[in-house]
Amino acid sequence: MNPSLNSILALAFLFLGAAAVFLMLELKGNPKDRVINKRLILAHRIFGYLFVAIYLFMLILMIKKTAAFQEEFSARAVFHIVLAIAIIPLLAIKLLIVRRHKRLTSELLGFGIAIFLFAFVLNGVTAGYYFLNSSDLRYTTLSDYDEDMLDEAIGREIIFKKCGKCHTLEKVFRQFKSREGWTANVNRMALIDAPNISDFDVKQIIYYLEKQQGVRTKSDAGKVDAEIGKTLVSTKCSSCHNLDQVFGAAKTVDEWSATVDEMAGYSGDPKFLTDEEKSTIIEFLSGRK
Ligand code: HEC
Ligand code: HEC
Repeated sequence: MNPSLNSILALAFLFLGAAAVFLMLELKGNPKDRVINKRLILAHRIFGYLFVAIYLFMLILMIKKTAAFQEEFSARAVFHIVLAIAIIPLLAIKLLIVRRHKRLTSELLGFGIAIFLFAFVLNGVTAGYYFLNSSDLRYTTLSDYDEDMLDEAIGREIIFKKCGKCHTLEKVFRQFKSREGWTANVNRMALIDAPNISDFDVKQIIYYLEKQQGVRTKSDAGKVDAEIGKTLVSTKCSSCHNLDQVFGAAKTVDEWSATVDEMAGYSGDPKFLTDEEKSTIIEFLSGRK
């Protein structure tokens, strides 16, 4: 299902739940004459049943999606699933009270509020996440919210399983890239190999590669930057001329800056180098002894 339909359903779900609870609060806490009360009860029922209908629909979708998922779940997904499933017994008991155990009617409000609370948190967790990551849903990036699921051992395992399929792993481990660089690279690989490399894999791989290049340079941050610069120069600057022409030149920061801009212009591709890549290259080339 496309994400926007999903969000509309989730919003409708929350709105119906909130309206049903509010109507009950009005009925119990601020009673009016009989005719109005009857209408409020009817409206509460309609909202309630629509709420249940959307819930069941989304539950089926969730179960389908969960069954197809082969990796471990993120903490966020687990939380979402647990809350979604916890609503089942709450709803069942509420319906039982309404249908069979009328003497417990006074408990209904509590159940209604509990169900709404679960629905609210359940949607808040995911909607909040997507809202914060909504700039580009298909382009997977690492964010602070992923911290508790990132694991170097998992990342290594995934790389060895999935990244050696089309080229040697040496190709991967010879490169140094910034986080943005790895993010762009791994997303591109995931696209080439769709759908074998999941969002989860992409995150674990980026995380692992970023950590691993620290190991390759014995945790020397300055050296990592220099290696990233070297990798960029050897991949980006070798297509039109020999690298000797680049490494043979001695220039100041400003001169390199002008040269790199000029070269980016020659390439004719506005996306030839990002601003971050440019400054990494300039820093590397001007910092060589
Ligand atoms: C379906 C085949 C395929 C798989 C799987 C694959 N790659 Fe690649 N990779 C390629 C091809 C083709 C190229 C060369 C063309 C290009 O760079 O787009 C390449 C190039 C690269 C490069 C060099 C280019 C650059 O941007 O630095 C790196 C690094 C790389 N891959 C890393 C990875 C990683 C990491 C994985 C695992 C997530 C991976 N590859 C999985 C096909 C694949
Ligand atoms: C699209 C082709 C192209 C790419 C890509 C390219 N260059 Fe060049 N480069 C040229 C051409 C053409 C010349 C010769 C023109 C000149 O001397 O001004 C040149 C000359 C140079 C020179 C010698 C002239 C000078 O200004 O000192 C340096 C140094 C240089 N390039 C550095 C780089 C670096 C660094 C990169 C990667 C960021 C790069 N080039 C990428 C086309 C390219």
